[in-house]
Amino acid sequence: MVNKIAVIGAGLMGAGIAYISAWNGFNVTIVDTKQEFIDAGMERIRTDVMKGIDKGKISMTQAEGLMSRLKATINTEEAVKDADLVIEAIFENMEVKKEVFAKIDAAAPAHTILATNTSSLSIDELASATKRSDKFIGMHYFSPVPAMKLLELVIGEKTSDETIAAVENVGKTQGKQTVRAKDSPGFIVNRILNPALREAILMMERGEATKEEIDTAMVSIGKAPAGPFSLGDFVGLDIAYNAMSTLYREIGDCFKPPETLKNLVESGNIGMKSKKGFYSYGGVDEEPKPPKGADPQWIVERINIPAIREAMILVDESIANKEDINMGMKLGAAWPMGPFEMLDHFGVDKVRDFIKKLHEEFGDCYSVPKYLS
Ligand code: NAI
Repeated sequence: MVNKIAVIGAGLMGAGIAYISAWNGFNVTIVDTKQEFIDAGMERIRTDVMKGIDKGKISMTQAEGLMSRLKATINTEEAVKDADLVIEAIFENMEVKKEVFAKIDAAAPAHTILATNTSSLSIDELASATKRSDKFIGMHYFSPVPAMKLLELVIGEKTSDETIAAVENVGKTQGKQTVRAKDSPGFIVNRILNPALREAILMMERGEATKEEIDTAMVSIGKAPAGPFSLGDFVGLDIAYNAMSTLYREIGDCFKPPETLKNLVESGNIGMKSKKGFYSYGGVDEEPKPPKGADPQWIVERINIPAIREAMILVDESIANKEDINMGMKLGAAWPMGPFEMLDHFGVDKVRDFIKKLHEEFGDCYSVPKYLS
């Protein structure tokens, strides 16, 4: 039974994880390297609590209860010595995380489960810094943590069934919907989102459709909450580029970031936060390029089908099951339908024919997956 949770790192994610944990009854100790970072994290939590009170979601008594279950320290060993679960949310750096996990492993009791919120690093490699790979797991929350319902559980080669069951329970108690993925690059959501963004950019580069045509088609016909170019600008093109580069490095050329994305990032045009990405913000609007007249239905299929193909590869490789993939994309990426629901919607034969044509035209990055054979 998990009762006490230590959250390592009081940044954006750590503060969010600490907040939803204390709100749902866990006793939480939050850790950072300096008092000022802890103060900033606690301030973030207080702001979330105040928002909850303002919206009438949290009563004053509940807020007091929540805050009374939260402690903070700069002493990692002290925080983990009686924790049942440690959730690490520090900088995304393999060496730093390994060092921290070795320290936690030495100080935590034998029963303590160790979890990481990494978005791109290998769970197995992180687990190798400890002597308890069976009690090591990825708990990949989405930002903002209080609002996003999805929690990807990333299962290492040696993670035990008991560990999975225990963190699944914690996730449910925190109000999250959990999905399971085997340790692999991009887990579920990032792995499937990337082909969609990449295809959209490549279509634009080949002059098949303008970014405006693509975004409009994906929203009006594809029912996406935002088109890929607006979404990329919103999320940050630096973040999108890093995610795609990781997949490129670990899986290969089929994830190579397109030149347009690379050039934008290298020139500092990383989306809304720099006032310019694919689009301009807050300044003089660029004149949109003349439309290419592409069929909006074709645009939607041309972007979604390679993403559906990637989802099938995850099933073929036993990385995740169909239900979890559908759930993950709906909750983690706000897709109106999961990839396998889209497959049913388009029709299996149509999707197979579409992929065959892509394969003939563009080569092996579009081979027909086993799932369809
Ligand atoms: P952040 O930069 O906001 O926070 C990181 C915090 O960790 C900082 O307060 C820092 O002082 C602290 N820290 C660094 N080394 C430490 C140590 N040895 N002990 C204790 N605290 C330490 O970063 P953010 O965005 O919260 O990301 C944290 C992790 O979550 C990363 O692994 C990231 O990949 C992952 N993640 C981030 C998401 C996002 O949207 N920002 C989404 C999902 C996962």
